[in-house]
Amino acid sequence: MATLHASAFPDAWPEAAIAALLARDGVFALLAVGDADDALLGFIMMQVVVDDAEVLTFCVSQDARQSGLGGGLLAAACDLARTDGAHQIFLEVGERNEVARKLYERDGFSVVGRRSAYYRHGAESGDALVMRKPLNQP
Ligand SMILES: CC(C)(COP(=O)(O)OP(=O)(O)OC[C@H]1O[C@@H](n2cnc3c(N)ncnc32)[C@H](O)[C@@H]1OP(=O)(O)O)[C@@H](O)C(=O)NCCC(=O)NCCS
Repeated sequence: MATLHASAFPDAWPEAAIAALLARDGVFALLAVGDADDALLGFIMMQVVVDDAEVLTFCVSQDARQSGLGGGLLAAACDLARTDGAHQIFLEVGERNEVARKLYERDGFSVVGRRSAYYRHGAESGDALVMRKPLNQP
């Protein structure tokens, strides 16, 4: 997961940091693996605290993008968060990350805030938008 994360983001998360997050109460990860070789193609990590959920990180390997994997992982994680009792999901996305923003908007997220100069990594630097999606609990 750390290797894939490092290939997708300029601020790579060390393996130990990912392991520490996964050990926390309420944190889960969904992994997409290849049929043939079990290679990790993508994953999403989410945290549910009482009735709020947050997407901690989310990425798909370069070679597997634009085939619906990201959308599928996001939808499945939202379903799990709802099952865990969440009423809403929050996430942060780079203002200039058009691909991710489009995916989130299509999945029902809308912008509810902005964090100025949140990202500080060269070409990726800039504001983060805070997005929220309500989850309909039965
Ligand atoms: C964001 C990300 C997870 C999407 O994964 P994915 O598997 O490509 O997602 P999907 O295949 O489900 O595509 C979702 C939509 O984005 C579109 N899309 C994906 N990559 C695109 C690209 N490079 N250019 C234009 N559109 C793109 C797809 O066409 C699809 O839209 P459509 O159904 O209307 O055609 C992936 O691009 C990624 O890992 N990016 C780097 C890390 C990142 O930015 N994560 C999000 C942090 S908030």
